[in-house]
Amino acid sequence: MSAKVSALSFQPSATGRAHRLVRRGVAFAGLSAAIFAAGCRQDMQNQPKMVPQRGSDFFADMRGARPQVLDTVARGQLHEDSYFYTGVVQGPNGYRQELDEMPFPVTMDVLERGQERFNIYCTPCHSRVGNGLGEIVQRGFKPAANFHDQVRMSQPLSHYFYVMTHGYGAMPDYSAQLPPADRWAVAAYIRALQLSEAATVKDVPAGVHIANLKDLAAAEGHPEYAQPWPMPSTAVEAYKPIASEGTPGMAPAYPADPKISIPPSKPAPAAQK
Ligand code: HEC
Repeated sequence: MSAKVSALSFQPSATGRAHRLVRRGVAFAGLSAAIFAAGCRQDMQNQPKMVPQRGSDFFADMRGARPQVLDTVARGQLHEDSYFYTGVVQGPNGYRQELDEMPFPVTMDVLERGQERFNIYCTPCHSRVGNGLGEIVQRGFKPAANFHDQVRMSQPLSHYFYVMTHGYGAMPDYSAQLPPADRWAVAAYIRALQLSEAATVKDVPAGVHIANLKDLAAAEGHPEYAQPWPMPSTAVEAYKPIASEGTPGMAPAYPADPKISIPPSKPAPAAQK
């Protein structure tokens, strides 16, 4: 009997202890939260302010945010020259149209800027000469456009601007990396590359030394498949290759990868103009 009683009295006393422990725990947590909050909320928390997307009784219309003032444009955001910012104009049929024009004069500075930006952002895929066989393509990326095929040669200049602004197929856009003026500079430089690849002996100023690349390679003892072999940086005559290290500052020559075959480019569409 006594065993039964003690068993019964044991039950409530254990529950009571648990309750006391919980109560103490809650009190402790509440106290520390109060101390913590008192420490945090002393600064600029309590002051009149605007909470985004919430009403306010400061203005007569009870809105916190001010509506934009009609017919106004923020400083520096007018973008009046829409061709400069978009690369397209409205054509006679109402559709957007690309033009074979620069929105500002092309100087040597513009071309140099374009070359620098092109070499940074475009060569990984399009290569330094723009043949679409950059390093990333050599490692398996979709062949980038060859700027020297008929299709690309016949595209208007602002098409390049448009492609850099919006991307094209597998190619991402470069609008974040290149502000509009840089995109135009790169477009101008692509034109210069195209002209240089299609240049003939007649385009070379009188008195400048001309040599065939294959002859140069043979003269320096490079096999024909070595593309590119270390090229002279300035005058061909002054060039003395260092037998073991190649040319300082230039990539070593690799044989062309026979596994990579580039599909022939599509024939140019009939004249568009
Ligand atoms: C990551 C690789 C990559 C980079 C970097 C890249 N491109 Fe491309 N580009 C491509 C590929 C791939 C194509 C072909 C797209 C397709 O057919 O899907 C292409 C196509 C193009 C075309 C042809 C569009 C047409 O109408 O045929 C132009 C012009 C072009 N790129 C310009 C540039 C310029 C300028 C840059 C540097 C700002 C650049 N690309 C950087 C991969 C690249």
